[in-house]
Amino acid sequence: MDNLLCLTSTGSTNDDAWQLALKGAGHGFGIIADTQLAGKGRLGKDWVSPAQTGLYCSIVVRPNLPFTEFPKLTLTAGLALCSAVEKLLPGIPFGLKWPNDLYCNRKKCGGILTESSSPNCPDEESFVVVGIGLNVNTPLAAFPLELQQKATSFRIQSGKVFDILGLYHKIHDSLLDHVRIHETHGFDHILQEWRKRDLLFGKEMQWVTRDKKVITACGMGPDANGQLLARDNSGRVYEILSGDVQLADTGN
Ligand code: BTN
Repeated sequence: MDNLLCLTSTGSTNDDAWQLALKGAGHGFGIIADTQLAGKGRLGKDWVSPAQTGLYCSIVVRPNLPFTEFPKLTLTAGLALCSAVEKLLPGIPFGLKWPNDLYCNRKKCGGILTESSSPNCPDEESFVVVGIGLNVNTPLAAFPLELQQKATSFRIQSGKVFDILGLYHKIHDSLLDHVRIHETHGFDHILQEWRKRDLLFGKEMQWVTRDKKVITACGMGPDANGQLLARDNSGRVYEILSGDVQLADTGN
């Protein structure tokens, strides 16, 4: 199997990568599509994928790590993405919003959806699909109206047009490098670098609990397991496992 499959159009590259991983696609195998008809975001949201303007890709990762480390890989992937784009667009202020949204000047320009094989899967067959969506050459008008205040692209930020395939290769290599760092030096090493890019640290943020309560608290950064900690005015510390956290001032 070649290491990269390029498609003109598909439903979701994550679904394709998942099927190919089940059939044995190896560590680092990737799929890239010009557009997706059913792109998936986190928390059951859609990922709008306007044709030939963004990077929509999924990479199969077979980490040499116990299954308990797999959820942390979502932060590892975010750091890999952020480090790769920082090198490509020096001077543009990128940052990470937990768990792994890529932001630039308070607007979202990329996101990651990681999906892992079942915990019952034998170690040698287990995998994680890392799906990356990046707004690269996307003009503002290509975003749906409701996203136009919240989203941005590399082109909007820099005025430049980028080679999407070239970008894929840089991000792919950065991802594999960061997985290797995670495997050999541990997640602490990843966290140290992740924290330098943490957009929620020290910021007032809000989220809605399962019983529909809105909580406002100050971001304290991810803990050693990659879960987000936040402290409210009364000193109570919350551990956020997953979910949609928003900055209190912008709602982004
Ligand atoms: C998010 O921010 O909610 C995550 C977005 C992830 C989108 C990418 S696009 C390529 C891959 N295929 C999908 O269906 N989703 C991911």
